[in-house]
Amino acid sequence: MSLLVAILLLVIPLYVATLPTNNKTEHAIVVDSLDIAPVWAGHPVSFVLLTKLPYQFIAYYDEIRQMTIAQRNISDRIWTINKLPVITNWDSHNYIAMAIDDDGYMHLSGNMHVVPLKYFRTAQPLNASTFVEIDRMVGTDENSTTYPIFLRGPENEFIFTYRSGMSGNGNQIYNIYDLKTKTWARLLDKPFTDGEGKRNAYFDGPIKGPDGYFHLAWVWRESPDASTNHDLSYARSRDLVSWETGAGKPLILPITLETCEIVDPVPQKGGIINGNTKVGFDEQERVTISYHKNDANNYTQPWTARLENGTWKKYQITNWPWHWDFSGGGTLNFAIRLGSVTKENDGNLTQAFSHIKFGSGTWSIDSKNLSATGKLQRETIPPSLLKVEGSFPGLEVRLLEDAGRNDVIDTRYVLRWETLASNRDQPRPKPYPPPSMLRVYTIKIIWENAYAKP
Ligand SMILES: *[C@@H]1O[C@H](CO)[C@@H](O)[C@H](O)[C@H]1NC(C)=O
Ligand SMILES: *[C@@H]1O[C@H](CO)[C@@H](O)[C@H](O)[C@H]1NC(C)=O
Ligand SMILES: *[C@@H]1O[C@H](CO)[C@@H](O)[C@H](O)[C@H]1NC(C)=O
Ligand SMILES: *[C@@H]1O[C@H](CO)[C@@H](O)[C@H](O)[C@H]1NC(C)=O
Ligand SMILES: *[C@@H]1O[C@H](CO)[C@@H](O)[C@H](O)[C@H]1NC(C)=O
Ligand SMILES: *[C@@H]1O[C@H](CO)[C@@H](O)[C@H](O)[C@H]1NC(C)=O
Ligand SMILES: *[C@@H]1O[C@H](CO)[C@@H](O)[C@H](O)[C@H]1NC(C)=O
Ligand SMILES: *[C@@H]1O[C@H](CO)[C@@H](O)[C@H](O)[C@H]1NC(C)=O
Repeated sequence: MSLLVAILLLVIPLYVATLPTNNKTEHAIVVDSLDIAPVWAGHPVSFVLLTKLPYQFIAYYDEIRQMTIAQRNISDRIWTINKLPVITNWDSHNYIAMAIDDDGYMHLSGNMHVVPLKYFRTAQPLNASTFVEIDRMVGTDENSTTYPIFLRGPENEFIFTYRSGMSGNGNQIYNIYDLKTKTWARLLDKPFTDGEGKRNAYFDGPIKGPDGYFHLAWVWRESPDASTNHDLSYARSRDLVSWETGAGKPLILPITLETCEIVDPVPQKGGIINGNTKVGFDEQERVTISYHKNDANNYTQPWTARLENGTWKKYQITNWPWHWDFSGGGTLNFAIRLGSVTKENDGNLTQAFSHIKFGSGTWSIDSKNLSATGKLQRETIPPSLLKVEGSFPGLEVRLLEDAGRNDVIDTRYVLRWETLASNRDQPRPKPYPPPSMLRVYTIKIIWENAYAKP
């Protein structure tokens, strides 16, 4: 999962990329849109859009920043609203995580940044009006929590992971849920990683790959200062319990900086940042990790590492003559974002990217050397949605993809609202922007000619 940092998609391109374009034209059009409610626009914090037919659920902070769940029958245009007794502050870490277990009960956690665990569960399946707060999961190491994530295990087990501790000093905890007794227990009897009181790990994953392994990439960070990220690291597992290196060497938990497998030993101030290390897979199902680091000219360059027969090989994706100078604490506005290396239906590789100076979009990726060979004519979001509607200076568009499933081919749901940029989690002076309308859009992708459809 890539939710580890509560930062939202989308940087509006300022320049057009210089790479050639490939003529496989895809357009995105709006089929429908539905207002949900006005929401706080003073800073970004991530929400949840979860379609589980016949329902659609949206978890968000409303105009007074109160945690709210909206539910509708997908064939109706009326929302049933449930307000939970949680008001968030200016912290962009306080995102909401929500998932549905195999019996249909809904679980929600959020508004957490080094505070006690917040956890709600519904009393009825698929009924967001019945959320009840539960004061614990397991009952230990729940006083200082951040980054809630629900995920599925190897046999589809319902799993929850979070960080216990703080930036620069934290451990990753994994819990497993028992559907029969409705109770949580530790999946791992030890923390996954141990920062030894000096650092903590920021993860991308675990992501279940086409090879059946769960893959986990991370960077270590020494302090709340983002420039102290270093050492891209990796582990994999078939069961989330026994972990090993890319060459199959067992790892003993908790994994420390000394015992971990280092994919790229990027030093502190070397241009790597948490939240931008993306696990993907190539056409041969080999795992890749995309990230960035500074080159000899101090330009911040995108790289992909690939596990080739037990050894990590590293490839520069493109050449960007620009240095991203980041440091300090709080939620930063990312000047560079990389997506995962992705195998398309035609077998070719692609990767999404955005850069504050060199544009955004989707690259076609060479399968041998993982470099960007061109930019696809691919529109995943209708251009009309990218235009800011509000007139308050500094507003930006927030977009969020559906975490659930929809059964109509070539259409998907996307959540949209507008906020100011993150402010390193600090309050802003008044005046605040007026609330922005939270909407769910139905988007359809059309191909310019049938022949080009992948
Ligand atoms: C893509 O199409 C445009 C016009 O439709 C054409 O000018 C351009 O040469 C084409 N590019 C490639 C790489 O085929
Ligand atoms: C959803 O709405 C449709 C149309 O009003 C109705 O036929 C269906 O029974 C509803 N489903 C549920 C689960 O309420
Ligand atoms: C959810 O539960 C409430 C309270 O029990 C009930 O009134 C409502 O009809 C239920 N809604 C759905 C969609 O089942
Ligand atoms: C929270 O901390 C208190 C005091 O240190 C401890 O007694 C309690 O068990 C902790 N609770 C949880 C849920 O971790
Ligand atoms: C992978 O490594 C093994 C053992 O080192 C070697 O026998 C094999 O030829 C290698 N395969 C490839 C595709 O390089
Ligand atoms: C690269 O830039 C950073 C500032 O972001 C600076 O601290 C560092 O010394 C520079 N490194 C080199 C090798 O020039
Ligand atoms: C896949 O990539 C190859 C090499 O770049 C290219 O020739 C081919 O047209 C691509 N396939 C499609 C369907 O775009
Ligand atoms: C990667 O391969 C492409 C051919 O697809 C070639 O044009 C490019 O120069 C190669 N890049 C590097 C860095 O070797």
